[in-house]
Amino acid sequence: PLVSMKEMLESAKANSYGVGQFNLNNLEFTQAILQAAEEEKSPVILGVSEGAAKYMGGFKSVVSIVKGLMESYGTTVPVAIHLDHGSSFEKCVEAIYAGFTSVMIDGSHHPLKENIALTKKVVEVAHLCGVSVEAELGRIGGQEDDIIVDDAEAAYAIPEECDELIRETNVDCFAPALGSVHGPYKGEPNLGFDRMETISKMTDVPLVLHGGTGIPTKDIKKAISFGTAKINVNTENQITSAAKVREVLDANPDMIDPRKYLGPAREAIKETVIGKMREFGSSGQA
Ligand code: G3H
Ligand code: ZN
Repeated sequence: PLVSMKEMLESAKANSYGVGQFNLNNLEFTQAILQAAEEEKSPVILGVSEGAAKYMGGFKSVVSIVKGLMESYGTTVPVAIHLDHGSSFEKCVEAIYAGFTSVMIDGSHHPLKENIALTKKVVEVAHLCGVSVEAELGRIGGQEDDIIVDDAEAAYAIPEECDELIRETNVDCFAPALGSVHGPYKGEPNLGFDRMETISKMTDVPLVLHGGTGIPTKDIKKAISFGTAKINVNTENQITSAAKVREVLDANPDMIDPRKYLGPAREAIKETVIGKMREFGSSGQA
């Protein structure tokens, strides 16, 4: 069934595993992620950035595609459709109205008080509709869609500020920027685990780890033990699917039927997602 992230993440936190947010880019990503979740009996969060929603025909089209696939696959596991890095109150409301079951309001580029005010406004509307909300503090480096944060701008979240935002807004989960990066890492990631632990103890809300691509398993396990209940992955699925398309087209220069090269790409995404679900410990939890 389609659900919000709330119960999903509370049970993940209580039972020390992580639920993956896998980003949608097109139909094949959507199919692969839903198939992986059902096969693994894992809860799943479908992350939809504003750019991806636009590419796929708007928020309503995304919801229709997901609902259609869930019906034809006979999906039994909990699925959330989540707006990833929502840029404004208006975009969040638009997504909720279209049928999203969860939204992120990314006010991380605003000063603390403004971020709190904006997040609070989104929570008020979302909770009336049974929709969960994720907020962010600090700045996650790298690039996702049109959001580009260079090294100098990337900032670690401050625990006292996180506590204030969470208490005042009543968000369902929270993404503190602690050195993770969107896209590939330059060298080994250096995550602020001390702060992660402090924030988790202070606030008790499930934490979110953005930039899941390229984080070693030992760090994933550590993050989960410090209160992380949601891990976002996009780039890794893009890398494995693009590699597969290249391989198939290189080997078959006359191939023109998109089903013949996107089908194998879909398989590659599914395998990648299954691997993540096992690594995060969400397999068998639905
Ligand atoms: O919000 C989406 C994620 O944080 C994706 O990060 O592309 O580095 O895996 P990633
Ligand atoms: Zn992100």
